[in-house]
Amino acid sequence: MENLLLFFGRLHPLVVHLPIGILLLLALLELAGRWSRFPRLGEAQRTAVLACGAAAAVMAAGLGWLLAERGDFSGTLLDRHRLLGFLTAGGAIALLVVQGLRWQRVYAPLLALTVGLITAAGHYGGAMVHGEHYLTELLPGKWQRALGVPPSAMAGVRELPLDPATAQVFADVVHPILEQRCVACHGEAKSQGDLRMDSWEAMLLGGKHGALFKPGDVAGSRMIQRMLLPLDHEERMPPKTKPQLSDEELMLLEWWVGSGAPRIGTVAQAAPPPEVADILAERMDAGREEAPRPDRAAVLAQAAALSAQLGIEIRPLSVDAPWLMVSARLQLKQFGDAQLVTLAALGPVIHWLDLGETAVSDAGLAQLSTMSELRRLQLDRTAVTDAGLAALAPLARLESLNLFGTAVTDGGLVALEALPRLRRLHVWQTQVTPAGAQALAKEQTDARRIRRWEEEIAARERMIRAEQFEVTMGETFPAVKVAFPPPGEEKAAP
Ligand code: HEC
Repeated sequence: MENLLLFFGRLHPLVVHLPIGILLLLALLELAGRWSRFPRLGEAQRTAVLACGAAAAVMAAGLGWLLAERGDFSGTLLDRHRLLGFLTAGGAIALLVVQGLRWQRVYAPLLALTVGLITAAGHYGGAMVHGEHYLTELLPGKWQRALGVPPSAMAGVRELPLDPATAQVFADVVHPILEQRCVACHGEAKSQGDLRMDSWEAMLLGGKHGALFKPGDVAGSRMIQRMLLPLDHEERMPPKTKPQLSDEELMLLEWWVGSGAPRIGTVAQAAPPPEVADILAERMDAGREEAPRPDRAAVLAQAAALSAQLGIEIRPLSVDAPWLMVSARLQLKQFGDAQLVTLAALGPVIHWLDLGETAVSDAGLAQLSTMSELRRLQLDRTAVTDAGLAALAPLARLESLNLFGTAVTDGGLVALEALPRLRRLHVWQTQVTPAGAQALAKEQTDARRIRRWEEEIAARERMIRAEQFEVTMGETFPAVKVAFPPPGEEKAAP
């Protein structure tokens, strides 16, 4: 019975178009009738159309009521939509009565009012289903600002204000994440679990089961706990079928809860720890105009000249980009700090740099600060020591470093902790100890992120097992199963 009622309730979105169409058409015909060239509506026709319109409006309101009682919607949008829907049905009935009594003077204003009510009701109904900013989110930014659309609801406008001194932690960092990942189900239109997350005040009220977070206690905050549950856990937020938070977003939310979940305060005041600062810097960068790429032809001409002058190998890394690989190794000890200064003219376009076996020393490494795009660096069998490694700090994109055969020790590795992207380090035949290498590896690995990925893989594997189809054909036959050999076993099989 309950299901049947809900079934009828779900006809509401279909039926609701009937009274809209009928009442709007009536208003149009009445307007047209005022114009002498168009035939006026007869009394009988008007009564017939009104009767249909009123019946349709009452039916739509009734079905809507069934849906609201049993369906997934709650919140102020629903309250407004429901009220306006009932008023529209009332208006349509009143129109029918007025027509019966031939109260000509009341008729026109009442019809206009009813059309206004049905328009407003329709607007809130649409906002409930599609989200409040469905209509405005694709408009040009200027129009949106004129209409007062909040910035978080503007499609594509997700970058942070560029200045940490003015960017607000909650309004500019935390709230846009929640808007994107949570508010569809925890907002004004729908508030699942009696929880709303569309404002700081609403979040403070918590949900059906109480507080959303304990300011300062990340692990004890339900909001964070639910986001860390395994992907297929039924309480996981957002639910597994919905777009998930990225690790960066999760870290930002944890940082905010950990720092007391403040409503007011700038990024600069909150003094984020380095990991968080990195994420924020990247987001701010995304909003920045991308620096124009150096012109490839000009770069190659300059590269050819330097290559001839220094006797080193310089090649473009691809056919369409200006990025270069440079190898000075052939010059052996002919290439030293002075030559590196000359090469620095090309600094910003060098991706790979091989200085192995050259005479480059600690002092020369200062030139590397011009090479902000550097990915790979070879310094093997040079005179470089611990003291020189500090000069690598500006190489924010460095992924691979070869220090084979240098005098570097564990002490020097500490400087490498400043390199966020460094993933491979070669220290064969140096003073580096296994313990020192281990310490750096631990520092450079985001164990928590890897654990989260592993948990995600485990959850996906459980999903695969649950989906897999298995056939057995009696005891004498082995089960027929679709399976993939684990990597590396393909070759071993006979
Ligand atoms: C697709 C819809 C959906 C999205 C998106 C979603 N939730 Fe939920 N959420 C629910 C439903 C349904 C419930 C109620 C059932 C339950 O408790 O699991 C709920 C309940 C909760 C509760 C428990 C409230 C209480 O007191 O019982 C918390 C906390 C929560 N969600 C946090 C979040 C956070 C944080 C996000 C965004 C990262 C989010 N949710 C995104 C659907 C959603």
